Amino acid sequence: MSLDGRPASPTLGPVDRCSAGQPRAGLFITLEGPDGSGKSSLQARLVDVLRHAGCEVVATREPGSTPLGEQLRRLVLDVEPRIDRTGRADALLFAASRAQHVDEVIRPALARGKIVICDRYADSSLAYQGAGSGVPIDELRAVQQFATAGVAPDLTILLDLPAEIGLARKSAEVTRFEAFQDLAYHERVRAAFLGFAAAEPGRYAIVDATREATEVLAAAVEAVRRLAVWMPCLERTSG
Ligand code: TYD
Repeated sequence: MSLDGRPASPTLGPVDRCSAGQPRAGLFITLEGPDGSGKSSLQARLVDVLRHAGCEVVATREPGSTPLGEQLRRLVLDVEPRIDRTGRADALLFAASRAQHVDEVIRPALARGKIVICDRYADSSLAYQGAGSGVPIDELRAVQQFATAGVAPDLTILLDLPAEIGLARKSAEVTRFEAFQDLAYHERVRAAFLGFAAAEPGRYAIVDATREATEVLAAAVEAVRRLAVWMPCLERTSG
C-alpha cells in the first residue's frame, strides 16, 4: 500500500515518481529498520559510493534535519518529559518534524534532481507508533499523508535483524524508545517492517543487517542500482 492507503503499483513506474502530483527530477531513498540495525553507518557508506560515482546526494534523517525538527527530536527522544503511552502525541510530533523536513529539505532537493537518502521516514511511524504503540494504522496513514503531502519514497531499504541483536548494539546510547519499550515492542516493530516489505515488494529491498558491513553495503548498492533507469549515475556504482 502507498502511504495514503491506496494500493501501490507493483513496479516503480513514472506514475509513482511524483511529489504531490508534480513529476520529480530526483530520487527519494529511505532507510528503515529496527533500532541498532546500522542505518546511520550504511547511510554514510552509501553516500560515499554514490558521490564517488558522480551522483549528487543529500543525506538526511528523521526526526530532525531542520531547526524545528532538531528541537522536536530532542523532545521526542529524551527520556524526560515522559510522553503519552498511547503513541498519539508521539505520532504528531514525528509528523510535525516530517512535514517541515519534506517542505524545507526533501521536496526542494528532489526538484533539483538530487538523490535524497533519508534515515527513517513515514514507515517508522507506522511501525513504531502503529505496530509498537498500537495507534490504529489507518489513522496513522492519514497523518502521514497529511504530513508528507504525498511525497513517498522510490525505494526503501529495510535493514532487518532480530530485535534483541539491535538493542544489544545500541546499549551505549539510550533514547526513550530503548529505555521504556520492552523487547516485545521492538519485535512488533520488526514484524511490521517485514509486513510492509511483503506488501510492497516493488518499493522495498530487504537487507540482512546481521551480515558484515561490506556485505550490507553491497546489497544496498545493488538495490539502488535498480533505479539507474531514472538516474544514470547509478550505473557507475559498485559496492
Ligand atoms: P535514533 O537515535 O535516531 O535511532 P536510530 O538510529 O535507530 O534511528 O532514534 C530514533 C528513534 O525514534 C527510534 O527508536 C525510532 C523512533 N521513531 C519513531 O518512533 N517514529 C518515527 O516516525 C521515527 C522517524 C522514529
